[in-house]
Amino acid sequence: MITIRPAEPGDAQALVELGSAVGQEDGSWLLTTEQWRSIPDERRYLRAVRRHPDAAVFVAAEDGRPLGRLSLSRDVHPASRHVADLGLMIAETHRRRGVGRALLDQAVTWAASTGVEKLELHVFPWNEPAIGLYESYGFEREGVRRGQYLRDGAPVDAILMALLLGDRS
Ligand SMILES: CC(C)(COP(=O)(O)OP(=O)(O)OC[C@H]1O[C@@H](n2cnc3c(N)ncnc32)[C@H](O)[C@@H]1OP(=O)(O)O)[C@@H](O)C(=O)NCCC(=O)NCCS
Repeated sequence: MITIRPAEPGDAQALVELGSAVGQEDGSWLLTTEQWRSIPDERRYLRAVRRHPDAAVFVAAEDGRPLGRLSLSRDVHPASRHVADLGLMIAETHRRRGVGRALLDQAVTWAASTGVEKLELHVFPWNEPAIGLYESYGFEREGVRRGQYLRDGAPVDAILMALLLGDRS
């Protein structure tokens, strides 16, 4: 059974492996194209996030082992503290089973518990699976950010998408 829970420092290795594997897929889904951060750095990050009210990492896990990751980070500026950015990835072996949607449900729950009213994300224009998920969930395109990221040194566009939580019925 797949369950969703807060990430623990002990998930560091599995999450590094997941990020590295997804980052190296031919689909070029993520900014990270080579090694994810190191396992000790990931462990430190997961430990820090657990103490931090403005950020969270959740995992979808099967038999304890993470196969999906949701990262959330709230804006620090007082004028945009109601906004949080999210990142999402599911292991290639476990896609199209509703795990991505379940992690978005978790993002909405986290947002409600922290007073976040808007979830936003960046997605590459060629990432049809992710855009399909986000649009089916209710995220709307807010614009295209030209040359927003350097990917392997080359500028790439990113679509900015957002979900206004007050709009959800
Ligand atoms: C995008 C991603 C997170 C989707 O996760 P997932 O667990 O497969 O998504 P779900 O099974 O919850 O899909 C829910 C809905 O999203 C849409 N969707 C998901 N994958 C899709 C695809 N390949 N093509 C079109 N629509 C898709 C569908 O509407 C789907 O509902 P349905 O299966 O009932 O038709 C996953 O493909 C992934 O991790 N990709 C690589 C990393 C990535 O791109 N992360 C996002 C970066 S912005």
